[in-house]
Amino acid sequence: MIYLKTAEEIELMRGACDLVSRTLGEMARWVAPGVTTLKLDTIAREFILDNGGKPSCLGYQGFPGTLCIEVNETVVHGFPSAYVLQEGDIVGLDCVVELNGYHGDSCYTFAVGEISDSVSRLLEITKNSLYKGIEAAKAGKRIGDISNAVQTYCERNGYSVVREMCGHGIGKSMHEDPEVPNYGRRGIGPLLKPGMVIAIEPMINLGSKNIVISNDGWQCRTKDRKPSAHFEHTVAIHADETEILTTFKYIE
Ligand code: MF3
Ligand code: CO
Repeated sequence: MIYLKTAEEIELMRGACDLVSRTLGEMARWVAPGVTTLKLDTIAREFILDNGGKPSCLGYQGFPGTLCIEVNETVVHGFPSAYVLQEGDIVGLDCVVELNGYHGDSCYTFAVGEISDSVSRLLEITKNSLYKGIEAAKAGKRIGDISNAVQTYCERNGYSVVREMCGHGIGKSMHEDPEVPNYGRRGIGPLLKPGMVIAIEPMINLGSKNIVISNDGWQCRTKDRKPSAHFEHTVAIHADETEILTTFKYIE
């Protein structure tokens, strides 16, 4: 069941999306060699609460953090921990906040100090692929057009697309229909209609596409332990344009 949002609901979602964007902007000030991922999580939680929001992931089906923390080979759903970030690491911070009854979802993969050229290129291509997906997300097109745009761009650049994890609709719930895969055929899947709000989130691997989920049922890493990158925006489909509700402007 896909819930189409009214203009009033989308206005409320702008608020949640701005708060999640500002939270990631705050994190950009703290990501550095020597900081633990637990410290990042605590800062994010306090920032969200101080701004009147609620950390959506914390306690969701038992998830232990405000942020999903994705160091190097971690693809998604990493737990905050005592791990100390090292120069040359990458860390994806995936955050969802609830404000005014609606959720906003965004993710950014940060470089910790200086990183290698090959990993820097993975970040650049993955972020570009998010915008390729957004460009394809027009009213009248289909979910498969988004999927195909992300996949063809990433594979053309020599990277692989994680299959098991998808983007999603978002609104009063963090995860709504439809699923938004990052691979697939053009012209298939649900039709994009004005009022749809979706989170597009390519998860792209430097090596093979295969992943492993740990015994805790959450933390997901690449099988070959090569790095993985992840960027995400929440977007609203309007009749005449697609609006990116989250922004990286507070980070960059
Ligand atoms: N932020 C993730 C997403 O993009 C969801 C987090 S799952 C949770 O869909 F359980 F940790 F909340
Ligand atoms: Co998401």
